[in-house]
Amino acid sequence: MRFDTIIRNGTVATASDTFVCDIGILDGKIASLSTGLGDAAEIIDATGLFVLPGGIDSHVHLDQPSGEGVVMADDFESGTRSAVIGGNSTVLTFCMQEKGQTLREALKEYHAKAEGKCYTDVAFHLVITDPTAEVLGQELPALVAAGYTSLKVFMTYEGLRLRDDQILDTLDAARRTGALVMVHCENEDAIRYLIGRHEDEGKFAPKYHATTRPIAAEREATHRALSLAEIVDVPIVIVHVSNREAMEEIRRARMRGQKIAGETCPQYLMLTAADLDQDALEGAKFVCSPPPRDTQSQDACWEGLEQDVFDLFSSDHCPFRYDDPQGKLNEKGKRSFRWIPNGIPGVATRLPILFSEGVMKGRISLNQFVAQTSTNHAKLYGLYPNKGTIAVGADADIALWDPARKVTITNDLLSHGSDYTPYEGLEVQGWPIRLLLRGKSVINDGLLADAKAGGQYVSRQTSSLVNARKIDTGKSGQAAEL
Ligand code: URP
Ligand code: ZN
Ligand code: ZN
Repeated sequence: MRFDTIIRNGTVATASDTFVCDIGILDGKIASLSTGLGDAAEIIDATGLFVLPGGIDSHVHLDQPSGEGVVMADDFESGTRSAVIGGNSTVLTFCMQEKGQTLREALKEYHAKAEGKCYTDVAFHLVITDPTAEVLGQELPALVAAGYTSLKVFMTYEGLRLRDDQILDTLDAARRTGALVMVHCENEDAIRYLIGRHEDEGKFAPKYHATTRPIAAEREATHRALSLAEIVDVPIVIVHVSNREAMEEIRRARMRGQKIAGETCPQYLMLTAADLDQDALEGAKFVCSPPPRDTQSQDACWEGLEQDVFDLFSSDHCPFRYDDPQGKLNEKGKRSFRWIPNGIPGVATRLPILFSEGVMKGRISLNQFVAQTSTNHAKLYGLYPNKGTIAVGADADIALWDPARKVTITNDLLSHGSDYTPYEGLEVQGWPIRLLLRGKSVINDGLLADAKAGGQYVSRQTSSLVNARKIDTGKSGQAAEL
């Protein structure tokens, strides 16, 4: 067989194995894993490099409405361009339902935003903000069957949060349709109360974003979300976990027998609340929710990755410009933390940070790195085995990592729309120097290849976690009812 491309002499790693072999690519797929593969139109020499599945970032916000006068810094073009710089071949972004809007209307908007613009492959999680009987009973079953197999609900943010009865209805609809629900766990009423108290005391600086969103507010909401999921008997994902107490809630729920996935993010390993406490309004650059905590919380999140309490390491890329009237320093944001848009950029830095701080420093294995940044995302969100692994028949989404390359992270390297990175000046060891998306080079020698954005929308199957519940309980899910 003659291949389009052969990757030679690399050290291949999957979520379970590390081995030396060559990879033959034909028509955008991995066609052979062997040695002595013969000839190809293109030979890539991967001597001294790790050959890994392309990163899958399953928590990315792009081109979302973000409040009056505030504009997100990345659209689908700049966000996915930044994603490939950081070694990602697929991103899962959010399709935000506006109140009163149907899910189909929202999807039409987001498909139009993404169409023809993406450097990575993309899929959408549905964000349910208006769980009417029509949305849950009519639209959701049809959309899950059509490949939109995950959704997110918020327990915080006025205008987005759902009440407990609405969460229960949504979880119930997810159980019936076989969708996987991601939950943002923070207690909005407690946060409102604390914001009121801070304002009464004249506390308006960015650092008070952290003190109005304490660990207790996250722990309580995490416990409540897990309890609601237990009552409905449905798997959920607890996203962006920032500290030990919320993490231990996940561990305990699993010990009770619940099917739960957990996610943490770079900001909870690398930043603390002290980053929000800086001169002038510099702290606004680090405002995200949940907020970064303290060094013990960082240690706990590392433990969660080491011990696989966290299945997913995602960026929660939610970028705003800093020095911009439509960004962090909008007129109201300059006056109070309450109006600083929540979120930080991170889609390009997620993988290099975990590779350098996790793999190179011996905290996690290379196989855990692959699982937590690619394979588990593919399995949990219905993309596996087409994506998330190096196997015959899978899409040739492949990242070549140079474990020796040292890079100092600077904003201009990241090619995103934001005017800053929270990780400016951080030195990392290990960098994705080449990236193939369905066999085509997107990144060459660390730089964007001279190619048009060739990313496609990908439809998804049922989550592995939803399937695991069905096998465990013998209960029928979507397959029987649709
Ligand atoms: O601050 C954050 N994380 N903003 C993004 C929205 C979310 O909650 O994921
Ligand atoms: Zn969230
Ligand atoms: Zn998010």
